[in-house]
Amino acid sequence: MIVTTAQLFKHAYGKYALGAYNINNAEQAMGLFKGAISSKAPFIIQISKGARSYTDKRMLEAIIRAAGEIFPEAIFAVHLDHGDEATCYDCINSGFFSSVMIDASHDPFEKNIEITKRVVDAAHAKGISVEAELGMLGGVEEDIKVEDGHATLTNPVEAEEFVKRTGCDSLACAIGTSHGAFKFKGKQSLHFDVLEKIKARLPGFPLVMHGSSSVPKDEVDRINAAGGKIKDSAGVDVNEYLPAARLGVTKINIDTDGRLVWTRVHREFFRDKPSDFDFRPPGKIFIEEYAKFIASRNVLLGSAGQLEDLRASLKK
Ligand code: G3H
Ligand code: 13P
Ligand code: ZN
Repeated sequence: MIVTTAQLFKHAYGKYALGAYNINNAEQAMGLFKGAISSKAPFIIQISKGARSYTDKRMLEAIIRAAGEIFPEAIFAVHLDHGDEATCYDCINSGFFSSVMIDASHDPFEKNIEITKRVVDAAHAKGISVEAELGMLGGVEEDIKVEDGHATLTNPVEAEEFVKRTGCDSLACAIGTSHGAFKFKGKQSLHFDVLEKIKARLPGFPLVMHGSSSVPKDEVDRINAAGGKIKDSAGVDVNEYLPAARLGVTKINIDTDGRLVWTRVHREFFRDKPSDFDFRPPGKIFIEEYAKFIASRNVLLGSAGQLEDLRASLKK
């Protein structure tokens, strides 16, 4: 059942974080739904601009609709990840999305406010909520690359002003993470001090953490042992998910880790069976492995086991 992102946030705020998982194809959708059901967790499906054009945006929407029918007990929201203004309007008008993200974080503060406010007005007119971003994460997202040293943490004073002036419904904050598999050079930790200050200024307001993959070392080691060349990778400490959730981080974005599961499964499969060329056997393994990964993350996020309580609260 597709619900609004606002309904999910209301149930989760301050207690647990919703896993927001990016999908691009049917195998990821199957693994995601299976893992969410086995861990009894609500979740958010995210679709990036790149994902919408990978096959066709209608294909992805149809896959998600079908998954919702195959797993009728699932409760989830559908969200546009890192949208530009035009893509936000397209998703708002599609009637399929629960929420959109307008990412104007690379623009100056005033311009970010201006663009975000326009998207908020259009989205709210259709009952859709809006995630905005303030501050700059490092790494690559869509076609934008932020070089090391140019990432900037979210300023809590600006965050309060930004939310008041734009009317956005949630805010992606830069608190030390970055997109991709190479997040940290030294000690890895989130900036809880910044998060505390943002929460103090925006009590009860849902915050979002991007770049939250943990980049498991054993996964990367297995990929490299099967012919990969991923060097110097580092991710978020999974033990920091729940403390962040208690400080208002209600949505935690995970994409890279799923790509690593895919790469490990397929590299190992074709290393061990070099004469095979049917893609369905590794595809089936991937679905099961991704489902296990999703369930494990939902436990760490605290969303595992929340499904029935959420269902009951939605009926009230
Ligand atoms: O933050 C970006 C997400 O990982 C989506 O990546 O734009 O390559 O689909 P993508
Ligand atoms: P990761 O690259 O850490 O998985 O982050 C994904 C993300 O933030 C999607 O918006
Ligand atoms: Zn992101």
